Amino acid sequence: MVTVVPVITVDGPSGAGKGTISHMLAEHLGWHLLDSGALYRVTGQACLIEGVSWGDHPAVAEIARHLEVSFSTAKNGEILVAYRGLDVSSAIRTEEGGRGASKVAAIPAVREALLQRQRELQRSPGLVADGRDMGTVVFHDAPLKFFLTASVSERAARRYAQLIAKGESVSLPRLLEDIEERDARDRSREVSPLAPAEDAIVIDSSASPITDVFERVMHEAKSKGFS
Ligand code: DC
Repeated sequence: MVTVVPVITVDGPSGAGKGTISHMLAEHLGWHLLDSGALYRVTGQACLIEGVSWGDHPAVAEIARHLEVSFSTAKNGEILVAYRGLDVSSAIRTEEGGRGASKVAAIPAVREALLQRQRELQRSPGLVADGRDMGTVVFHDAPLKFFLTASVSERAARRYAQLIAKGESVSLPRLLEDIEERDARDRSREVSPLAPAEDAIVIDSSASPITDVFERVMHEAKSKGFS
């Protein structure tokens, strides 16, 4: 008998709380975690390292096909990401890293190249998959799907607080503009645009503390028998 490894998908725009909720969920369930955005971020970063322009689609796709990326967990619990053995954990989390990820993610051949890599992470006892197209494309058969959203101003404010805490100098209006631009690109691209799956549970976290969102998510997970 073939047992299907369960997947819970968590999609939504940046800053909606997907990353935090996915971490909490994976930890609580003892499941694996796929941060698919990190794969696109590393692809963008790899282009900078290899001297490939984000606009050179065939060359970017070639980078994605041979992406030598590895993930590990530091003693303090931080997820470390390396490209060809080089630590890119901080570089991929900057605003520039996000912009590059969004640009290379719009290239169909890049998405195709990263598809199988993402599906290979469906391992026992289960997978929490965080991204934009987890429920619509990569794991479209997943038994439980969430789509987290929040207003643009709330997402910009959260991102601002995160960057300031990291010691980066940022301007809130510039951040707002960046988020709107990235949202527009992620939503309007031809392949796998950001959108909720038909069977996704949509949660707006604009006015809810993360603990409330997690409670709601766990309630749904329990009702599917995952706990
Ligand atoms: O989740 P994130 O902010 O790390 O994602 C960075 C970019 O990668 C985002 O602008 C869109 C893209 N992305 C995507 O197109 N598909 C995914 N499954 C995950 C991220």
